[in-house]
Amino acid sequence: MEYRDYESNARDCVREFYQLNHTRQTVEFVRAAREKYLPPRTREMGIWTAMQHLNELVDDSDPDIELPQIAHAVQTAEVIRADGHPDWFILTGLIHDMGKVLCLFSEPQWAVTGDTFPVGCRYSPKVVYHEFFEQNPDWKSPTYQTECGIYEAGCGLDQVLMSWGHDEYLYHVVRDYLPLEAQYMIRYHSFYAAHQEHEYQHLLNDQDRVMFPWVREFNRYDLYSKNDDPPDLKQLLPGYRDLVAKFFPASIWW
Ligand SMILES: [Fe+2]
Ligand SMILES: [Fe+2]
Repeated sequence: MEYRDYESNARDCVREFYQLNHTRQTVEFVRAAREKYLPPRTREMGIWTAMQHLNELVDDSDPDIELPQIAHAVQTAEVIRADGHPDWFILTGLIHDMGKVLCLFSEPQWAVTGDTFPVGCRYSPKVVYHEFFEQNPDWKSPTYQTECGIYEAGCGLDQVLMSWGHDEYLYHVVRDYLPLEAQYMIRYHSFYAAHQEHEYQHLLNDQDRVMFPWVREFNRYDLYSKNDDPPDLKQLLPGYRDLVAKFFPASIWW
């Protein structure tokens, strides 16, 4: 099975999704979303409460999966465990998509899921469905369309405004509880142009370069755990509850 095949058999809604996403993720939109959600103060709830809400969602942007979110979460964690990785890595597999609770706060899919990319600088032609960027108002801004745009070369990704979605949001929700490697995995797991295509290298700093191999390592599990065989949740969930409790308090701010 080929993953991330956007050409031949992607569901039509994937294409429509990226048209909306690339048209509407402007610098102005990203700044407003950050203003609204950061620091996270929308709702206080435990990881499991959030997970139960999430289970009602299917991801429109993903051509590979039609499973409830919790199954993808546990599958990802299980393949990471099978490879003998430490607890924090397994936990990261479990929670990495939980930023999708943004959908519960009535955010549209195009502002929650899909591949991410920097705004405020030239779009790499390797971003999926790059052609739709021509419909983004930022496309016509000379300031935003230079190679570095509003950033300085080597400034580091922490300084870069990424398109708004579940990755950046969850990073801010969980960063205090997880090691730096896990923070990077969560924050950049949908930044395919950088972690798979090696684009945007001019924006990275030393820390980004040290951490990106972890993002790549994580991506193998995110992708290849997407088979449509649901895991035995009943048997597996108690262990995951304990794992979550090891790292997180009973409730956190979303
Ligand atoms: Fe994701
Ligand atoms: Fe995922």
